[in-house]
Amino acid sequence: MLEVQELSVSYGAVHALTAVTFAATPGAITAVLGANGAGKTTLLRSISGLVKTQSGSIRFNGQELVGKTVEGIARCGVAHVPEGRGIIEELTVEENLRLATLWCLGRRERERAIEETFALFPRLTGFRRRHASILSGGERQMLVIGRALISRPQLLLLDEPSLGLAPLVTAGLMALLRDHTVGTDMTVVLVEQNARSALSVSQRAVVLNLGEVVVNDAADVVAADSNLRHHYLGF
Ligand SMILES: Nc1ncnc2c1ncn2[C@@H]1O[C@H](COP(=O)(O)OP(=O)(O)O)[C@@H](O)[C@H]1O
Ligand SMILES: [Mg+2]
Repeated sequence: MLEVQELSVSYGAVHALTAVTFAATPGAITAVLGANGAGKTTLLRSISGLVKTQSGSIRFNGQELVGKTVEGIARCGVAHVPEGRGIIEELTVEENLRLATLWCLGRRERERAIEETFALFPRLTGFRRRHASILSGGERQMLVIGRALISRPQLLLLDEPSLGLAPLVTAGLMALLRDHTVGTDMTVVLVEQNARSALSVSQRAVVLNLGEVVVNDAADVVAADSNLRHHYLGF
């Protein structure tokens, strides 16, 4: 379980997050929604140790993450998929996956983990020996998520995975994400500006506005609140 309490982060004079409090539970997707500049990326970067926090705490499975190094946090089972499609285009799809296994898995586990990933994303199988540069946007995002899952994270942080994808592709990706999360012991924090599709697969939703939590509720309650949708979510 992830517990963020009274978390504040500033970049110089800019208050990116102010006393943010929420929790995310295993086997569920917690959506973090809000307009551009709301502080969503800063929140994920704080959890994975990439930005310095001013105050507050971030506990995962009872362990305090604030003050740990990025590597230390990764060793706690936290995987962060940043915005953009950070794959290595010059490598094949399989090589991209193999690279991800190097630091987290022993030699004997690697091949099995790679095969499991192809089983999870059958769409990628046909491309396994092709350069990642030929993948479509949706396939790239599958590779990026597959690469994050290969370390068998306990906490998966996703920053705008649907950015730039067509609606149908986004829907497919979100369904995959739900299937790989619900009923497992993985905790997922899904940051999205695309609130409608994120809410359709999430169980909880946290809405940020100018760095503050304005809503923290069940996803279906948030999705059903037309006032809130209109004010903060743009649909
Ligand atoms: N490296 C940075 N330096 C200064 N200000 C930043 C930096 N990164 C983000 N900000 C500011 O912090 C606020 C939150 O940004 P961000 O976390 O990227 O929001 P979101 O991901 O919701 O669009 C914005 O006002 C943004 O301009
Ligand atoms: Mg962002």
